[in-house]
Amino acid sequence: MRLGILSESAPGERRVAATPQTAATFIDWGWQVDLETGAGERAGFPDAQYREVGANVVDGHTARTANVVLCVNPPDQVDELAAGAALVGFLDPFVDTELMTKLRDGNITGLAVEAIPRTTLAQSMDALSSQATIGGYAAALLAATKSPKLLPMMVTAAGTIPPSRALILGVGVAGLQAIATTKRLGAVVHAYDIRPETKEQVESLGAKFVAAPTQEMDEGGYAKEVGEDTQAAQHAALAPHVADADVVITTAQIPGRPAPLLIPDEMIAAMKPGAVIVDMAAGSGGNVAASRPDEMVDVGGVHIYGPTNLPAQIPQDASRMYARNLVALLERTRDDNSFRIDLADEIIGGTTVTHQGEVIHPRTRQVLGLPEPGTPPKEEPGGATE
Ligand code: NAI
Repeated sequence: MRLGILSESAPGERRVAATPQTAATFIDWGWQVDLETGAGERAGFPDAQYREVGANVVDGHTARTANVVLCVNPPDQVDELAAGAALVGFLDPFVDTELMTKLRDGNITGLAVEAIPRTTLAQSMDALSSQATIGGYAAALLAATKSPKLLPMMVTAAGTIPPSRALILGVGVAGLQAIATTKRLGAVVHAYDIRPETKEQVESLGAKFVAAPTQEMDEGGYAKEVGEDTQAAQHAALAPHVADADVVITTAQIPGRPAPLLIPDEMIAAMKPGAVIVDMAAGSGGNVAASRPDEMVDVGGVHIYGPTNLPAQIPQDASRMYARNLVALLERTRDDNSFRIDLADEIIGGTTVTHQGEVIHPRTRQVLGLPEPGTPPKEEPGGATE
């Protein structure tokens, strides 16, 4: 049983899928660990630390041809993976149809961490949550360092500086951490989310909940897209808070759908020059009309940032948390010193997107236009079946 750990090739990516500590755990399980040279370097984990725990440091091709391959983002050379092997990482299974097709055709088992069920049982494996926590923290720091103002109130001999006002829109995992961090830095924090149950969470962190429309979530526990009327009512309620804010952090997402528009251009026109917006949804359509992925846009002195990979800014702890998530996930696949995919296991079954030459995740099948598993084949004219 050979585990490969890849060096990430995406621009700006500094995380790694296994730390020396988690590599040691896999070795304790009896697995051979093959780390691509320099994989942990940018996260502060040099090759020597992996060697010390018994891992081999190998070239990229050797790491990619292991039985189980761990990554943060999928490698460019998916075609090098061995038939029957497993690829574990952020595989973007509800959007990246090309990768899903390649994994299916190459007979690769794809374990997509985005598909891990958001249940109490799977909390230790929830990589979306661990990385969103880091992202929310990094967004707050970015806003604080880009703002021309102090976040805390300061009473000094040179006068009293009032605290900054921070507004957090979208109170999922990232939003909660952005509230906690801006609050710790001393800002007066307001926050809003479409899910009504977030009011209590916002208030428990010492922030104020903005009164704007709320609606119940879907059966998967996620927010639903809002209709035009609700969106207009949201915008009307948010406008005065946006105009008042020195720092705005937006995090609202709807999985597999474009992010909801929360700040249209006319709201930005009413903001104070020097205000800073960090749009954490810029990579999926944006909560802010004017934001652009990985760019800073200046609209009348308001600086709008659209970072798409904030966890990579804090690579060491982001990697530590992600690597532990993967150990917890793979623990369920361990079979003596080997590896086994048990689709009947609710977590492994939910996380597996491709297996034995088939796309098996229902949502990925839907995105690819495939029928639900178990649907009888359609009769084609002339008696042929598909
Ligand atoms: P996310 O990243 O998908 O979205 C961020 C936030 O945006 C969510 O709170 C969502 O309600 C909000 N949002 C969406 N549309 C909006 C709109 N139009 N206006 C304002 N806000 C809007 O969310 P995340 O952080 O991934 O969490 C998703 C769900 O999973 C949540 O319900 C969360 O409570 C739940 N969860 C459960 C866990 C568990 O039980 N183990 C762990 C983590 C999350």
